[in-house]
Amino acid sequence: MSALPRAGNGKVTVPDILHRKSASGDSHSAQQKITCLTAYDYPTARLLDEAGVDILLVGDSLGMVVLGYENTLPVTFEEMLHHLRAVRRGTHHALLVADMPFGSFHVSHEDTVRQALRLVKEGGAEAVKIEGGERRMDLIARLVEAEIPVMAHIGLTPQSVLELGGFRVQGKSIAAAEKLVRDAHAVEAAGAFSVVLESVPRELAARITGELRIPTIGIGAGPDCDGQVLVFHDLVGLSLDGTPKFARQYVNLGELITRAARAYCDDVRGGQFPSDAESFHNSRDVAEASAIKSR
Ligand code: KIV
Repeated sequence: MSALPRAGNGKVTVPDILHRKSASGDSHSAQQKITCLTAYDYPTARLLDEAGVDILLVGDSLGMVVLGYENTLPVTFEEMLHHLRAVRRGTHHALLVADMPFGSFHVSHEDTVRQALRLVKEGGAEAVKIEGGERRMDLIARLVEAEIPVMAHIGLTPQSVLELGGFRVQGKSIAAAEKLVRDAHAVEAAGAFSVVLESVPRELAARITGELRIPTIGIGAGPDCDGQVLVFHDLVGLSLDGTPKFARQYVNLGELITRAARAYCDDVRGGQFPSDAESFHNSRDVAEASAIKSR
């Protein structure tokens, strides 16, 4: 069973996130931008939460950056739940959102609500994220009706990789741009409390942000969205198969980890680790007894 942290004491809630939108017109708008990062384990969740990130997303990018899958399609519901629980244990301040993995919302509305409820009841999610626009309207409305807040996700939706034929910037033609605007209005009308815009032209993201009443959270969608999300591994240099153009790497942990592992191997092989100070020692009784014996 999960234990949700209580609201208050700086805990970020769904209404807080919605409020950022209505507050974005005031003079402190820059401070109102929403920050979101992915997290997949306890220590990362704790560090990001303590750093003041507003939303932690247990994204199904888990499959690619942590589990080594080629894309997000193989990620199972049980894998999501397992990682979500770990993140829940490390999250006290941020709003915790969990992705609905591919296949978990495709069978029926009833089944989807049941799965989403498991993310809330067993995993401690405070909202779920669903990929897709207009065609997910009824589904989003059903989840909202069941009192499960929904973050929508439109533009490049990685679970549509088979349909899209690859990961490309979306909304580049006039027709595609108009479709994305319709998707954005549809998820808002269905009751989503926010929408992720992934890999869309900056100008289009700015237009959608201007038209919606719910916050937009961009990834590869330029600086005019109400907030930004990045995959944690891109931020810290742990995306071993490459970092997308839109991501900014703030530190290269990959390099630091390799250096630390090499130094450890050198120390062990050279007899420099562990040292005497890093070893346990006999108690005085045992030391004295062995001294007598060896006389
Ligand atoms: O799975 C994920 O991490 C995501 C974000 C990139 C928005 O969907």
